[in-house]
Amino acid sequence: MNHIPEEFNTFLGPKAENAELLLSLLKKVLDTQTGWRKSAYPDDPGLYPAKETTISKLETELDKFLERSKKNYPYFHPRYMAQMLKDPSLPTVLGMLTFVLSNPNNHAYEGGPVTTEMEMEVTEMLLKMCGYKEGWGHLASGGSLANMEALWAARDFYKQGKVYFSEVSHYSWKRICTILRIDEFEEIPVDRNFRMDLNKLEEDLKKHRAMFVMANCGSTGAGSIDDLEAIISLKDKYGFHLHIDAAYGGFFRTLLIDEAGNNINNAEATPLTEYSFRQLRAIEHSDSVTIDPHKQGLISYGAGAVLYKDENLRSGISNTAPYTYHKTDKPNIGMFSLEGSRPGAMAAACYLTYKVLPLNSSGAGGIIGNSIAASRKLYELISGSSKYKNLCYPDIDINCFYKTGAGTDFEDINNATLNVYSQLSVEAENPDFILSKFILPASIGSRLLPEFTNKTNANFNALRAVLMKHWYTMNDFYYLRKLVEKLEEI
Ligand SMILES: Cc1ncc(COP(=O)(O)O)c(C=O)c1O
Repeated sequence: MNHIPEEFNTFLGPKAENAELLLSLLKKVLDTQTGWRKSAYPDDPGLYPAKETTISKLETELDKFLERSKKNYPYFHPRYMAQMLKDPSLPTVLGMLTFVLSNPNNHAYEGGPVTTEMEMEVTEMLLKMCGYKEGWGHLASGGSLANMEALWAARDFYKQGKVYFSEVSHYSWKRICTILRIDEFEEIPVDRNFRMDLNKLEEDLKKHRAMFVMANCGSTGAGSIDDLEAIISLKDKYGFHLHIDAAYGGFFRTLLIDEAGNNINNAEATPLTEYSFRQLRAIEHSDSVTIDPHKQGLISYGAGAVLYKDENLRSGISNTAPYTYHKTDKPNIGMFSLEGSRPGAMAAACYLTYKVLPLNSSGAGGIIGNSIAASRKLYELISGSSKYKNLCYPDIDINCFYKTGAGTDFEDINNATLNVYSQLSVEAENPDFILSKFILPASIGSRLLPEFTNKTNANFNALRAVLMKHWYTMNDFYYLRKLVEKLEEI
């Protein structure tokens, strides 16, 4: 049996290996919460007699509900690699349950003083992880809302100028421009590595006044990281607000920080490539960042975050109300967040998780780093196959590849890849593995893949594996070897 790092045990595990541990910790949470209720206003009588209650409707419906819960895909399992879904850490579950039971709302300080303080501490941890020496921010329900708030704050602060992002950016960006009625936006083409073509960006910057450039650190489709270092040089030359959508890739910055909180200055001391390492380091020179704890940050869904370097960006979006924010000497996060009510339980989940697994290379990074190693291994295994080809080298942990057995004919390759997808995806009855697709629109596919012949107007389909589960490195990459065996078999 391989040595299992301690931080790996902070998850329930694909075979519920840590079920006993979770049960005993859940009991501790319940005992504390029930004890607190019993001791609050001790002189008041109880409203119910303390007895063994049974509610038959609840029991029956719960049984049906639990049965139904198993009909989802097994997102916790290493064989599921389709989308950004993984096992939340145990501290997340415990932190969340504790405060779900008392239900604070982090909109105003008085709605959740403890969890508001926790949210402020989590924000400090995230700012530090991103290398921001000063700044502010808060949690959000997800990356889309975080992105929207950042562009809203920038629009109302700078007032004019054009918005830029690459053509493989998350779909939320175009929607946000529509919602905010920003007509002046430009989607910049990408190169073969799905990184923004900076010559194209600069051509446009020469002609137009830029307000906001959004760069990706982990694009949704292929996990690509734009050349942030070069974009920062453009920012120095042309002057614009640089926002980084690090919703997915931002937590890899934990790999750049040692246990004592100091910078790790050498890419070779991390699992990252030199390129990715340098771009992650460059995040500290941006003006704002979207970074989602609910993606690579080990937290369950419902936790995005947005960070800003400059306090002044609050001015355009600040809000007050006659019936709340009564504690004026304390942070009322709702005064400067797009969203109103937000669960204190989510802040608590992040807080407890990052206390157990600090945002450095031996805490959370000790887990997340395995995804990089796994992704590199899968790239190698696919490179060694005569039937499949990698679409690009993964900047982080999302691998895209396609079936080549069919020669260079565009339609044959597409059909061969789609045939594999139909057997290894949510479309199959009992798939051995569950992958997703990365679909390139015809306009992008024909530009980026000149080697294909007989190109039609059809989209190009690649298979996509999101390797965010840290278990892939275990047992000599067991699941990745099995995946490639299966792919070869088809
Ligand atoms: C790069 C990136 N930005 C933003 C988002 C949107 O995040 P959410 O789905 O949490 O709203 C995603 C989601 O996958 C993403 O990958």
